[in-house]
Amino acid sequence: MNRLQDKVAVITGSGSGMGASAAKLFSREGAKVVVVDLNADAGQSVADDINKSGGEAIFVQVDTGKEADLKRMVDESIKAFGRVDAYWHNAGIAGAGAISETSEEEYDLQLSIHLKGGFFGFKHLLPHMIKNGGGSVLFTSSVSGLKPSPASPSYSIAKSGLNILAQCIALGHGKDNIRANTICPGPVETPLWPSFMNRNPDIISPEVLTQKFIERVPLGRLIQPEEIADAALFLCSDDAKMISGVLLPVDGGLVVA
Ligand SMILES: NC(=O)c1ccc[n+]([C@@H]2O[C@H](COP(=O)([O-])OP(=O)(O)OC[C@H]3O[C@@H](n4cnc5c(N)ncnc54)[C@H](O)[C@@H]3O)[C@@H](O)[C@H]2O)c1
Repeated sequence: MNRLQDKVAVITGSGSGMGASAAKLFSREGAKVVVVDLNADAGQSVADDINKSGGEAIFVQVDTGKEADLKRMVDESIKAFGRVDAYWHNAGIAGAGAISETSEEEYDLQLSIHLKGGFFGFKHLLPHMIKNGGGSVLFTSSVSGLKPSPASPSYSIAKSGLNILAQCIALGHGKDNIRANTICPGPVETPLWPSFMNRNPDIISPEVLTQKFIERVPLGRLIQPEEIADAALFLCSDDAKMISGVLLPVDGGLVVA
């Protein structure tokens, strides 16, 4: 309990899935939470739930593919709570498919939503973190960011880019007492999961593809969003105060299978 007491956490993509689980968990652990999402209804509802349960949260509608939105996210967080201790850029979308099926628009979307959210979100938070004596940065990558995913190369390169970005921040800003890590989830049972599985329904049904994934996971089941939130809490808290530059699979062992 209270592992984030008096801290302020900004979490993108926290209107749903693992981000929503984490926003509620971080609040129960004492954090003030900035719920950030493109989907205003979903994000506002998570912030309302936190406030109704006795926590403190605001919602900011942001497209993580736009630097101006990310700057506003930082400005509104500072205006509401005065500081940011933890930034988790977690917003994301499912992959766009094989190279032959990927349009320029889909490619740009993959790179902007995933990478700009990390790069420009951190850029605008940096002066505030330096002023406050440090902070923790976390990005949601994927096992597809650790190993090539020919089924969706644009997703794979965007997620691997987040791994390198976290390590650039870890290396470049350790002197500012800023830590940066990534979580690399395997298959997680969130509202996004069916979109990953629905890529070629005429060739393989989402149910059969899901079963094939489960069979590849050594621990033998899909991951739950709360299990990603637990790992994020650890990495954002002082329990991990000497952990930086780490790419942590939370994947039931999938990456070594
Ligand atoms: N579910 C999985 O199996 C899995 C596996 C590996 C990695 N991931 C990654 O985990 C992260 C969270 O995914 P999830 O499974 O919880 O999905 P989710 O769909 O439940 O949640 C993602 C949230 O991101 C928001 N979002 C999408 N585009 C946005 C944008 N441009 N700006 C702001 N918010 C935006 C959505 O509205 C949604 O609320 C994503 O980055 C995803 O790529 C998911």
